[in-house]
Amino acid sequence: MSDFFLKALNVKKSYRTSSEKIDVLKGLDFRLQRGEIVSIIGESGSGKSTLLHILGGMDLPDDGSVLIDGVDITSLDLKERSRFRNENIGFVFQFHYLLPEFTVMENLKIPLMIGKRHSRGEMEEICIEILNLVGLFEKRNRKPDELSGGQQQLLAIGRAMVNSPRLLLMDEPTGNLDEETSKRVMEKLFKILEELEITTVIVTHNISLARRTEKIYRLSGGNINLEKY
Ligand SMILES: Nc1ncnc2c1ncn2[C@@H]1O[C@H](COP(=O)(O)OP(=O)(O)OP(=O)(O)O)[C@@H](O)[C@H]1O
Ligand SMILES: [Mg+2]
Repeated sequence: MSDFFLKALNVKKSYRTSSEKIDVLKGLDFRLQRGEIVSIIGESGSGKSTLLHILGGMDLPDDGSVLIDGVDITSLDLKERSRFRNENIGFVFQFHYLLPEFTVMENLKIPLMIGKRHSRGEMEEICIEILNLVGLFEKRNRKPDELSGGQQQLLAIGRAMVNSPRLLLMDEPTGNLDEETSKRVMEKLFKILEELEITTVIVTHNISLARRTEKIYRLSGGNINLEKY
């Protein structure tokens, strides 16, 4: 028995379009210890988002498996996988997918309501804590399109945190933030992640953000390797 919290083994993924087949991930292996915070860099189109979606059980590999805390999420059916995701994984998407017709507060509450593990009062409390954390308490009754791009990103980060995930997967979490705000948000976030021992993968083109993590991996040619720096 190894003590790796996350294990991706021999992960393969190709996309077929009418004219071609693109092999994006070519039998990739990736392991994370519990509580590890790492980043993944790589050229646009190298497969970072594809990998992150597979690690988070949002997409299935063509071959290989992903184990999270001993659970092979690639062998779960759709319903079990969604449930596992809701209970264990926080995801910040490259494009944040906030729900435009709902308020900031409601956007935060939705993953909690899906989880059905908290009373109304508890949900309220958790959301307020998160709102304070990401600095959006004043905006709690606004709609996402009334927020700046950076504030929307902060909300997406907050939403990924409400269910106290054990694994946090972030795809360009600071893509819309200016350098200063990005630094401030990530410093805050790193503190929480370390305190709560949340295993975290950050995909980013921002090299100074990547350098803040314990390890930097590079995705290239369908495989992943530790970047030396
Ligand atoms: N649903 C899809 N159908 C067909 N091809 C796809 C699909 N999704 C991704 N691809 C292709 O797979 C490759 C990897 O895409 P992916 O989005 O994972 O790259 P990325 O590393 O996240 O890039 P970026 O840094 O620009 O976000 C690209 O060549 C892309 O065109
Ligand atoms: Mg991407």
